[in-house]
Amino acid sequence: MAAPAPERLLILGGTAEGRALAAPAAARFGPSLTVISALAGRTRAPILPAGEVRIGGFGGSEGLAAYLREERIGLLIDATHPYATRISSQAREAADQVGTERLALVRPPWRPLPGDRWIDVATVEEAAAAIPVEAERVFLTVGVRSLAPFAARADLWFLVRLVDEPAEPIPLPRHRLICARGPFAEADERALLEEHRIDCLVTRASGGEATAAKLAAARARRLPVVMVRRPPPPPGPCAASVEDALAWIEERLGRLRARPS
Ligand SMILES: NC(=O)c1ccc[n+]([C@@H]2O[C@H](COP(=O)([O-])OP(=O)(O)OC[C@H]3O[C@@H](n4cnc5c(N)ncnc54)[C@H](OP(=O)(O)O)[C@@H]3O)[C@@H](O)[C@H]2O)c1
Repeated sequence: MAAPAPERLLILGGTAEGRALAAPAAARFGPSLTVISALAGRTRAPILPAGEVRIGGFGGSEGLAAYLREERIGLLIDATHPYATRISSQAREAADQVGTERLALVRPPWRPLPGDRWIDVATVEEAAAAIPVEAERVFLTVGVRSLAPFAARADLWFLVRLVDEPAEPIPLPRHRLICARGPFAEADERALLEEHRIDCLVTRASGGEATAAKLAAARARRLPVVMVRRPPPPPGPCAASVEDALAWIEERLGRLRARPS
């Protein structure tokens, strides 16, 4: 008798977690699982995950639903960034529509440690208003699409860090742009804060190890950190680690295999 066709897993990625999941998923489940990773195609030279890779949007939840159907995707893991809310809700709608099993892989948020001076805010607009009055030179790591609210703060100088050179000019009157991709080392982050005489950090509660060193550097210098809260995770099953996501795949593969054909 011919071996059953492999189940197909789509990982919505563009994150370290997505990459960290693709290789062990392919290795652990071998010939019974085909692993495909999808990237939005925003980053100029993305680090590619192991296995098959598809680059570019699907065309909304309808487009993603059509892809899931056509490609016979049985399992979908949404490992996108915690602030990439559009693709996560599209993933939920598409998976519900097609009947694809879906899991969100959501990295744990950072937690404040003794010595941290975090100012919790709900939005980037609030963050722009919450920068302490004594601050003059702000390190801004909120992503290219969240810079506009800071344009009103002509009283401040910003050090803006992005992964890629932006397509449009930065909308801030007084700033310096640096383009760099994590992981960042704490010693380098401390040196950056010192070199630019930074007196406040504004960031998002992204979580993850690659960009956590700036928080340790800010703590060491006793700097205030304006922290933009995360949007809520997508409803439905969530895993906090790659290991938990692998366990979910294993359990679902067992169930899918047990289905009557
Ligand atoms: N937001 C961040 O700060 C951030 C940080 C690090 C990495 N990323 C990664 O960068 C990507 C884009 O982030 P975003 O905030 O622009 O997302 P978003 O606002 O949630 O999604 C915008 C559109 O991009 C496409 N898209 C997003 N992620 C995709 C993926 N993994 N594969 C294929 N298409 C995808 C979808 O287009 P269609 O409607 O055409 O399907 C979606 O409607 C995400 O994959 C995310 O994991 C984001």
